[in-house]
Amino acid sequence: MAVERTLSILKPDATRRNLTGKINAKFEEAGLRIVAQKRLQLSEAQAGAFYAVHKERPFYKDLVAFMTSGPVVVQVLEGENAVAKNREIMGATNPANAAPGTIRKEFAESIEANSVHGSDSAENAATEIAFFFAGVEIVG
Ligand code: TYD
Repeated sequence: MAVERTLSILKPDATRRNLTGKINAKFEEAGLRIVAQKRLQLSEAQAGAFYAVHKERPFYKDLVAFMTSGPVVVQVLEGENAVAKNREIMGATNPANAAPGTIRKEFAESIEANSVHGSDSAENAATEIAFFFAGVEIVG
């Protein structure tokens, strides 16, 4: 299996409750390496552009408001099959449906305040990583 990179975001509900270390431990215990990481306050324009694919969805406006409600930590995770592995560690979008042991089952507050974002394909991962990081900021 190939070594991949994926874009991860620790969302404002996670930074607010000081959960970044506990969530990072889950990634590292699963064999993913944090090869880039920074804490940012997203602007409305940045959050809107990042989630542009959801622009027509009913939850878009609230999602952008939530993602700008406090700091986020954006990171690049690297490892074997990193995109799918991270999605597995995150759990289902709605924490009510997330499997035991997943980040969203343990930490998410709601379908909106669900603690983490993770790219859903290798192609989207490349686009999302480039959205936040310059090549020199990623050290594998
Ligand atoms: P989506 O890409 O469907 O989920 P995932 O984050 O698991 O890839 O949706 C993006 C985010 O939009 C999701 O993490 C939280 C928010 N969202 C809502 O607030 N309400 C909803 O009904 C859905 C589907 C998503």
